[in-house]
Amino acid sequence: MLPLGSGPAGQRAAVLEGLAGMVPPRAVTNDELPPGWGTDDAWVRRRTGIGTRHWVAPGVSTGDLAVEAAQRALDSAALDPAAAAPIDAVIVATSTPDRPMPAMAPQLAHRLGLGEVAAWDVAAACSGFVYALATAAGVIGAGIAHRVLVVAAEVYSTLIAPDDRSAGVVFADGAGAVLLRRGEHGEPGSVLGFDLGSDGSGHELIEVPGGGALARSAPHRYTRADLHFRMRGRDVFQHAVTRMTLSSQLLLKNVGWSVDDVDRFVAHQANARILSAVGERIPVPADRHVANIDKVGNTGAASIPLALADAAASGRLRAGDRVLLTSFGAGLTWGSAALLWPDLGPVPPVDHADGPPRSA
Ligand code: UT7
Repeated sequence: MLPLGSGPAGQRAAVLEGLAGMVPPRAVTNDELPPGWGTDDAWVRRRTGIGTRHWVAPGVSTGDLAVEAAQRALDSAALDPAAAAPIDAVIVATSTPDRPMPAMAPQLAHRLGLGEVAAWDVAAACSGFVYALATAAGVIGAGIAHRVLVVAAEVYSTLIAPDDRSAGVVFADGAGAVLLRRGEHGEPGSVLGFDLGSDGSGHELIEVPGGGALARSAPHRYTRADLHFRMRGRDVFQHAVTRMTLSSQLLLKNVGWSVDDVDRFVAHQANARILSAVGERIPVPADRHVANIDKVGNTGAASIPLALADAAASGRLRAGDRVLLTSFGAGLTWGSAALLWPDLGPVPPVDHADGPPRSA
């Protein structure tokens, strides 16, 4: 595990200046899940804390969600991308890209009218947002970019096997975006540090086995079922609790915060029971947790910015709050970040639908 990015006041830092999230309009309650799954509202709420999730309509892609969230984040920062072209780089975090190649970020930049900016994707599954944030903070800190747009988007509904009720009740679609600019370490909005880690020995605990070079070079070993999630839910659960707890504790030490210093704790919205277990172990009191899994499910990389956007929209995040983010996902990967909450303009709630996602 690598503690990264903490530094003294006055040092260059990435500063959050825009935030938004979106979920596609189609809300799926537990009662609307496929009858063949033999599940029910009480089971799903008790085991996951999820009441509703959003799934895309046919033909809507990860890129469509990404462009909507990104545009909302740009609007929230009151930046006009066409006028001043102030954005140097676009980073997309996703494990459900629209196609294996090219990366999503260049097309997103194009659709947003950002010009010929640097643009690339980060693949770290549900940890993708924290990894992308660290990447953005790195390029800003190194003086490579002044302002970076980070967008995390997933269309996980397309990875659920028709007969997989375990993954089926949990995973969902959505997108979140943040805008970061170069600023000073310690100013409101500044990202103070990271802890990132991985353990590839657990790569089979949660995976989509097919659809890659391995399946193309040995097609006889793969079937259509390999294009869907395969997850050992209980094992993933245990690793998620352990890794997010340890990573959070390590980062707190690195940035010099005690657990009492944490005003808001925002964990990857994997499962409400995972969030409670991590909160108890760090420990951070439950009234400081930010969660919206009940209404959006597990949206992978998008889940942290979606939770942040919902909390900002409802006034649960205030300027100056010390915020701890932590995530865990396939890989296995995990990562945490610490930041000081900025004084943001109005952030719309994530299920505020003002029309269908824009298409390419
Ligand atoms: O995003 C990062 C990566 N993902 C995660 O963090 C997800 C982590 N894992 C989980 O959230 C949970 O493991 C699940 C929600 C996916 C599953 O919950 P669980 O409590 O771990 O259930 P289980 O898979 O151990 O299954 C327990 C029982 C089984 O029945 P038996 O064998 O005990 O009779 C399952 O067949 O629950 C049954 N079951 C269900 N029953 C009704 C599994 N899924 C369902 C369901 N409805 N949807």
